Amino acid sequence: QNNVPNTFTDAQSGIVFNSWGIPNGSPQSQGGWTFGMALPQNALSTDATEFIGYLECASKNSAGWCGFSLAGPMTNSLLITAWPHEGTVYTTLRYANGYAMPDKYAGNAEITQIRSSQNSTHFSLVFRCKNCLKWDHNGSVGQASTSGGFLVLGWVQAFPSPGNPTCPDQITLEQHDNGMGIWGAVLDDKVANPSYTAWAAKATKTVT
Ligand code: HEM
Repeated sequence: QNNVPNTFTDAQSGIVFNSWGIPNGSPQSQGGWTFGMALPQNALSTDATEFIGYLECASKNSAGWCGFSLAGPMTNSLLITAWPHEGTVYTTLRYANGYAMPDKYAGNAEITQIRSSQNSTHFSLVFRCKNCLKWDHNGSVGQASTSGGFLVLGWVQAFPSPGNPTCPDQITLEQHDNGMGIWGAVLDDKVANPSYTAWAAKATKTVT
């Protein structure tokens, strides 16, 4: 997992991301795992409350799920889970008090999609995550502070698909089987972009 970010432009959306990941071919996670983040223009001086995310995750025969933790550990952090199903990539916001099936997140965060794609080995999603960098799950609070220029994030990847895949509030999961970890994600000045507002306006698709 790189700490210093790569920077790439998503060809389809034109959005510029800082990114971190596990390369395809690495023993840590079959197929690799990539997360990208784009932030509002002033995010490196004033804590942002939202971001645009890029996820590219492995799947086997179009199955699987992946996710990340906005504080690092699985527990006491806002968790984002994504999985492909019949041409749609679904997401759910979750929160776990222990190492068991996370609860549906009780706060007001919201994901809207900019684009997604999938083939037999990978799926990807570009999405806006509003109110995602500060969380309150029934009084359990936390924050990912962008003004420090450094985040601690967690990654996770699994091959069995969720149960109830078309109903994000009611999915069931087995314990992840294709890698997980915590890493320090340095943010550089490419992460905070004057085009953020225009990019965020492209996030018009709601998948529930
Ligand atoms: C770690 C169980 C779902 C993210 C772990 C560990 C267990 C576990 C036992 C620690 C393993 C070890 O240290 O060897 C489960 C179970 C789940 C589940 C039973 C569902 C039924 C999720 C979800 C996410 C997630 C939905 C995020 C979207 C993580 C991360 C770690 C982790 C980032 C590594 C960091 C840490 O140890 O806290 N999980 N998990 N997990 N899990 Fe989960």
